[in-house]
Amino acid sequence: MKTLKATLSLLNLKGGVGKTVSIVGLATSLVRLTGGRVLLIDADPQGGLTRWTTAGDPKRFKRGNLSSVIFGHHDLTEAIIALDDPDLHPDDPSRADLWKGVSLLPCATVRVVVDATFGGSIDYGALRKIVQEQTPDDISFVLVDVGHGDNDSTRLGVVASDVTATVVAAWQYQSVYQLGAANKMIKDIRDAPGLSHVHLGGAIVTGFDESKATHRNIVDGLRSKLRDNVWGIVPWRADIERAINRNRPLTAMPSRINPVPQVYENIGRTALSKIMKGQD
Ligand SMILES: Nc1ncnc2c1ncn2[C@@H]1O[C@H](COP(=O)(O)OP(=O)(O)OP(=O)(O)O)[C@@H](O)[C@H]1O
Ligand SMILES: [Mg+2]
Repeated sequence: MKTLKATLSLLNLKGGVGKTVSIVGLATSLVRLTGGRVLLIDADPQGGLTRWTTAGDPKRFKRGNLSSVIFGHHDLTEAIIALDDPDLHPDDPSRADLWKGVSLLPCATVRVVVDATFGGSIDYGALRKIVQEQTPDDISFVLVDVGHGDNDSTRLGVVASDVTATVVAAWQYQSVYQLGAANKMIKDIRDAPGLSHVHLGGAIVTGFDESKATHRNIVDGLRSKLRDNVWGIVPWRADIERAINRNRPLTAMPSRINPVPQVYENIGRTALSKIMKGQD
């Protein structure tokens, strides 16, 4: 029996707003909340998620990647890497426990631009079809990490999703300006024939510093518009960068001084309730 409950993605047309950080935060929180397994799909041609989770060693993803699966050279099952496999982390086996319950479909080729690879001739429904038909039975959630801008990789990810939420960086005005365009993109996709499964789920704010009036204004503005569709406010924490550089999930950061994993756990709960309601 298929256990796949939902596919999610996070979107902003602006780059560097915390989409990948939030995908990783959501992945480990969904594992902890539900006990189910999560599959991360790195649909960003920059491959940041793949480098973060595999310590950047290309040997770790020799079995296949998003591109080889899309073009039918590999089945999804043979291309997926279980990040909690100790053999994957010979330099640091403790890393396997930290990624418990998380698998990865690596990015096409690190630093290769998917637009150039796919050349616009791709069927944007291709990834959804693969996820629906080939996701292994032990996976409960699929999280697609898309790049920024309106491009092939972003559309593949959004069309594959049941729920897409936007990510707004409190420190970046541009990420607020791009929100309308991102929302419109999701709505246009949803209104296209056969794509009514795509739901606009809400927004996550990242890098929030309570002492800054501009940050408070952004959050107040979003809350007045979106109300409880603001999934969560992630505080500014410089040591998120350390988790990335050490190839560890955010949960590896000490929670006493850093509430980020707890914030993502609450965001995970909100995402679950959205999934269960199946509505905007
Ligand atoms: N809550 C936060 N506090 C401080 N820094 C953060 C926070 N969230 C993300 N960052 C920083 O912002 C940077 C960009 O984050 P991330 O890579 O997740 O963005 P992105 O939206 O995925 O970018 P891209 O568009 O390139 O894929 C990271 O280097 C990370 O350190
Ligand atoms: Mg990213």
